[in-house]
Amino acid sequence: MNNLLEVQNLTKSFGGVVANSDISFTIEEGLIVGLIGPNGAGKSTLFNMVSAVFPPTAGVIKYKGQRIDHLPSFKICELGISRTFQNLQIFKNMTVLENVMVGHHSRTKSGMISAALRLPRSRKEEQIIYNAAMEQIKFVGLEDVCDVNAGSLPLGKLRLLELARALATEPQLLLLDEIAAGLNHQETKEMSDLIKQIRDKGISVFVVEHDMDLVMGICDKIIVLDQGVKIAEGTPKEIQNNEKVITAYLGEEFAEKMEVTG
Ligand SMILES: Nc1ncnc2c1ncn2[C@@H]1O[C@H](COP(=O)(O)OP(=O)(O)OP(=O)(O)O)[C@@H](O)[C@H]1O
Ligand SMILES: [Mg+2]
Repeated sequence: MNNLLEVQNLTKSFGGVVANSDISFTIEEGLIVGLIGPNGAGKSTLFNMVSAVFPPTAGVIKYKGQRIDHLPSFKICELGISRTFQNLQIFKNMTVLENVMVGHHSRTKSGMISAALRLPRSRKEEQIIYNAAMEQIKFVGLEDVCDVNAGSLPLGKLRLLELARALATEPQLLLLDEIAAGLNHQETKEMSDLIKQIRDKGISVFVVEHDMDLVMGICDKIIVLDQGVKIAEGTPKEIQNNEKVITAYLGEEFAEKMEVTG
């Protein structure tokens, strides 16, 4: 199995706070990899470095063997990495379709100015973007509301909208930061199924999530952070039985529940 992403000795400090300390791991092609840990463990910080929201303080990030730390975020997107945000980044006055199409601009050649002037090449690209957006809107099941203003949609549909927008850039690596936060049981189950379908299309998925049913149910491997440090890595079963992880995050109750339910 080829490595898609390699993180080597990654560190991020904010003043005196070391949010990530000397973290190393790999993400292989075609896997769902979970990133878990208590609040403030450094999960979103790690995602922010991989997606170039900010550069690392130290360490190396490689994608398909090429160093990508210090590249701007539009380059990261062009290379095939996209993400969703823990705090939704939706344009509330725009429709579902417009929100998904906006996400695709970084992938087009003619850019914003020719798009605004509606030059011929841009019209053709507009059609390509429209098709890509509609394909993903259908995939997540939002076609009925594609012309509805995003501001009037409930949380469950907004999370699906962010997923569609991230997919419309045709990533090979998709980062999902708490995509199921605030969803009810049924919506969480549907989200799990969608993530598995995404993996089955050949896209690697890196998920931060506090919902352990989702994480344990879909991840091929799990990385655990605590206070900026990687404390464990392994299969869901290995992680459930890891004493350090139980103490730092899962709790004894979880471990007992798992013993009962197998
Ligand atoms: N942009 C920033 N500036 C300063 N400090 C930050 C910044 N981003 C994160 N931190 C700090 O880094 C630490 C890790 O935060 P991070 O958001 O990565 O945690 P997390 O694991 O995503 O937590 P949660 O589960 O609550 O989302 C925290 O102490 C946080 O306050
Ligand atoms: Mg976070």
